[in-house]
Amino acid sequence: MSRDWVNLGVNYHPTPWRFQAVWEDGAWSEGELVAEATITLSEGSTAIHYGQQCFEGLKAHAGPDGEAYLFRPEQNAARMARTAERLLIPPPPTELFLRGVEATVAANPEALPPHGCGAALYLRPLLIGVGDNLGLRPAPRFIFRVFCSPVGPYFKAGLKPIRLAVSPFDRVAARGTGSFKAGGNYAGGLYASRQAKQLGCDEALYLDPDTRTFLDEAGSANVFGILPGSDGAPDRLVTPASASILPSITMDALCTLAKEELGLSVERRPLPLSELAQLRELACAGTAAVVTPVSAVRLEDGTEIALPQPVGETTQRLHEVLTAVQTGLMEDRWSWRHLVAAAPASAD
Ligand SMILES: Cc1ncc(COP(=O)(O)O)c(C=O)c1O
Repeated sequence: MSRDWVNLGVNYHPTPWRFQAVWEDGAWSEGELVAEATITLSEGSTAIHYGQQCFEGLKAHAGPDGEAYLFRPEQNAARMARTAERLLIPPPPTELFLRGVEATVAANPEALPPHGCGAALYLRPLLIGVGDNLGLRPAPRFIFRVFCSPVGPYFKAGLKPIRLAVSPFDRVAARGTGSFKAGGNYAGGLYASRQAKQLGCDEALYLDPDTRTFLDEAGSANVFGILPGSDGAPDRLVTPASASILPSITMDALCTLAKEELGLSVERRPLPLSELAQLRELACAGTAAVVTPVSAVRLEDGTEIALPQPVGETTQRLHEVLTAVQTGLMEDRWSWRHLVAAAPASAD
């Protein structure tokens, strides 16, 4: 299939196969590939009343050898299990999660963008409470589904910086579900994100909900800053430590790459809003955003902090190294790349 991979954007492009398993009577089913892209639910399903659902997002890239490689999928499995437990959903075992993700990639070979085109195959595992119910209680059944869609590169030609607007809304409650990937966290963010766009920015930047004095994260990405090292000391990467942000798997990889490949010192700590003015660079990190430079932050009073380096050198270097590991252009010393076994004959 020949496709305009570069211009796909981040849109839903259905593929022939998805994976589904069902939890009922205390156990997960084996799971299977299914062709049907729609799901039929009881109108009493907790997923659609009480938001008893969660999801994950990860990408597969074609390596130079043409094989499909996932990036740290076991981390997504662990994060989904953690989220599931918080929402009283039976966590899919790691083995089931990985088998579901791998089977979905392997069954849709024509949806995997070719190596080097910048596009990737996005995987969306989701977990929903279904079945007849009315009262506020966990569902009697759960569906674990993994579908995929090719997505275009975040940047078509070179890194382009975005602008963030400090949101007057909190993304989540201080001791709420912010560190879990629950869909409900995102519904409230739609309005904040639209407001940021109406103010001429690209995305909302949230403060910590407890004190509103520290940076938390952007709508669907963590943030990090670069501070120049003084007196010959290495430059410093600083990224917020906060109980209300989603622990980003990409950010975690960037901290390792910053230390081991770029020789930076890495600080995970509360990052006061007042420290923004000292940053040389600011960027977003996540599966979708990859590494996105930030050129300016609009504060709530309408004033703006412009970053001295709108597309920072260190940000560019981190983007380069991360994508090189993800796409197999660099040795993977961390065993982050996960080879997807070819589809079994029965899948097609
Ligand atoms: C709120 C939020 N923060 C951060 C991230 C980045 O996390 P990851 O790097 O694991 O994709 C995401 C995307 O999953 C997100 O939705």
